[in-house]
Amino acid sequence: MKTRITQLLGIEHPIIQAAMSWASSNSTLVIEVSNAGGMGVLAGGPMRVEDFAKAVAEIKAGTAKPWAVNIPLNNPRTPQLLDIAHEARIPVMVASQGGVRGHLARFRGIGTKWLHVVASVEHALKAEAAGVDALVVDGAEAGGHPPPAEVSTLVLVRRVVKSVKLPVVASGGIADGYGVAAMLALGAEGVQLGTRFIATPEASVHPAYKEAVLKAGVGDTAFVGRGGHPIRQLKNGFSEKYAAAERAGATAEELEKLFDSASLKQAALDGDVAWGKVEAGQSAGLVDEILPAAEVMRRLVAELEHARRNVGMA
Ligand SMILES: Cc1cc2nc3c(=O)[nH]c(=O)nc-3n(C[C@H](O)[C@H](O)[C@H](O)COP(=O)(O)O)c2cc1C
Repeated sequence: MKTRITQLLGIEHPIIQAAMSWASSNSTLVIEVSNAGGMGVLAGGPMRVEDFAKAVAEIKAGTAKPWAVNIPLNNPRTPQLLDIAHEARIPVMVASQGGVRGHLARFRGIGTKWLHVVASVEHALKAEAAGVDALVVDGAEAGGHPPPAEVSTLVLVRRVVKSVKLPVVASGGIADGYGVAAMLALGAEGVQLGTRFIATPEASVHPAYKEAVLKAGVGDTAFVGRGGHPIRQLKNGFSEKYAAAERAGATAEELEKLFDSASLKQAALDGDVAWGKVEAGQSAGLVDEILPAAEVMRRLVAELEHARRNVGMA
């Protein structure tokens, strides 16, 4: 299937494995997805500089297909991570959290395609004006950092598609080929899946985290941190405590302190799914089994074909 995204990135299927701190902070998942015709994305955000450099080298050796790194642009280690990415002549950058000016021209010089993650129409227009190649649009269903305004993927993607000329990658709430077809019908030209790829052997999170994703129903996530930089995670002791504090009228300062008392690392590496930030999207309720990433890719493509035939798009 050809879209402006498959053509821009040089990939076979319009499917991107989302950057996920810890879960995709390893080379194996990225290599498997890229070799299966999608695009794997290394999540550099939480990585030590030397680990990032090692993973980048492993990916270069492990696939001849396009792949990407995700670097949050507001991180203290951003300059070092950008230097490593530049040195490695990465094919694709998926940047998030921060302005692109000052970085784009440098990466354009080595032929890198630049995708920018946005979660509002305003930020989509800003990124388009700054000259990025494509947008990744995160809706409220998404795990990780959904839009503070809580606009659903269905509405936000459609709005952004109507507001910009750039190709759009839809992200948030997509777990199978039927979701992919829905996003393509809205005018998105690619999709990004995070939570679905947590339930793979290649995702580098604790088995208890994967188990929690499998067990979750569609209503088992919580939106934590309204008013700040909210996250979507599986409901647990921490999210319940946070919700109770909100209901009790805790001050912004008290809520911030509580928010900072738990971490994603605690859940992802230590397996503390009761009190850590078990970031995952509503699509956890659509994920029922752990499958190798290449098999996830095969099923996504087969389901997409089936869905397109169902609605007469094929
Ligand atoms: C565990 C987890 C960690 C994430 N870490 C990052 C990250 O480091 N950088 C980023 O841009 N997005 C991050 N995200 C957001 C994903 O890239 C993606 O937008 C989201 O997973 C899409 O929604 P879905 O989970 O419903 O597929 C993370 C999401 C999850 C679930």
